[in-house]
Amino acid sequence: MVNLETSYMGIMLSNPIIAGASALTGNIESIKRMEAAGAAAIVIKSLFQEEIQLKNWKFDEYINRYNDLHAEMTTQYPPLVHSGVESHIYWVKKTKEAVSIPVIASINAVDEDAWVEYARSLEKTGVDGLELNFYSLPKGSDIGSEELEEKQLEILAKVKSAVSIPVGVKLSSNYTNIFAFVKRLVQQGADGVVLFNRIFQPDIDIANEEENVSFDLSTSAENRLSQRWTGLLSDSINADICSNTGIITGEDAIKMLLAGAAAVQVVSTLYKNDIEYIETMIQDIVSWMGDKGYKSILDFKGKISKAKSNDPWAYERVHYIKQLLSKEDTV
Ligand SMILES: Cc1cc2nc3c(=O)[nH]c(=O)nc-3n(C[C@H](O)[C@H](O)[C@H](O)COP(=O)(O)O)c2cc1C
Repeated sequence: MVNLETSYMGIMLSNPIIAGASALTGNIESIKRMEAAGAAAIVIKSLFQEEIQLKNWKFDEYINRYNDLHAEMTTQYPPLVHSGVESHIYWVKKTKEAVSIPVIASINAVDEDAWVEYARSLEKTGVDGLELNFYSLPKGSDIGSEELEEKQLEILAKVKSAVSIPVGVKLSSNYTNIFAFVKRLVQQGADGVVLFNRIFQPDIDIANEEENVSFDLSTSAENRLSQRWTGLLSDSINADICSNTGIITGEDAIKMLLAGAAAVQVVSTLYKNDIEYIETMIQDIVSWMGDKGYKSILDFKGKISKAKSNDPWAYERVHYIKQLLSKEDTV
C-alpha cells in the first residue's frame, strides 16, 4: 500500500491532485463528484472584481452570451456567470459545507483595497487557504513591468498581514525573471506558488472577420514550461510549488512531482476526460509508485529537480542549445 499524502502550503492533502479553479468548481454537483473521484482539494473559481463591477454596470445580457467559457476572458471579453461579493462569499460557504476536503478560495481583484477586503471576507468562510490569482494583461504602455511586479508584491504583503490562513499566488509565465520574482514573493510570505496559469489566447474568425471566442483546453505538450520552472525553483525556494497547465494524465502529474512539485492543479483534463478521470490519474500514480518501489510521495518528490538531477543543466537553456547543435550534426 503506497502513501500518497503530501503537504501543500501547510495543508495536508490525501494525494497530490487538486481540482483547479474553473466553472466546474463553481457548481456543487461537480464539486461533490470531484471529492468522490478522489480530488485532494479544490480551488473555487475566482472572485473577480471586474465581474462584480460589470454586474453593477448591468451588462448582464451581453455577458450571458459567453456563459461557460473561460472565466479569465474578463480582461479581453466580458466574463461568464458573475455575481456580487456577498453572493460569492455565500457560495464559498456552501462549498465548504458541501465537502470535507480542503477548499481554497481564489481572488482576482483590481484595486489593492479589494484584494485585502475579499481576502478577509473569504477567510471568515472557513476556507483552508487563499490563492491570489495574479492573472492580468497590461492594458497599455504607461505602467512598466517593475511597477506591475511591485504592485503584486505589495498586494501579497497586505493580504498576508490581513489573514492568518495560508496564501498562495498563481502566476502566469510572463515575467522577465521568474526566479527573481518568485523569490521575492516567497520573501514576502507566499506559502505556495502555482506555476503557471494558462493565458487565454483569442482567435480571429476570418469568414466573419470577427474575434472568435473559443473554449480551448490544454494538452500535455503544454506542461513543459511548468515542468522546467518547477524543477528550477523547487530546491531554491522556501514555499511549495503547485504545478499547473497541461497536466492531463497521471504520468504528467508524476513528472511534476519528480521535478519537485508538492501538488498539481488540473482543469482541462476534467473537461476533456470528465471529473471521474481524477480516479484514473490517482490509480496511475499508485501503480507507477508500486512499479518503482516507492512507498510515499517524499520518496521521489524533487528527485529530478535541477539540484538533484544527474544532469542539472537539463533545465537550462544551454542544454537546449546543445540539443539543437547535436540535431544539426545528424542532418
Ligand atoms: C472554464 C475555465 C474557467 C477558469 N476559471 C478560472 C478562475 O476562475 N480562476 C483561475 O485562477 N483560473 C481559472 N481557470 C484557469 C485554470 O484554473 C487553469 O489554471 C488553466 O486552465 C490551466 O490548467 P489546465 O491545463 O489543467 O486547464 C479557468 C480555466 C477554464 C478552462
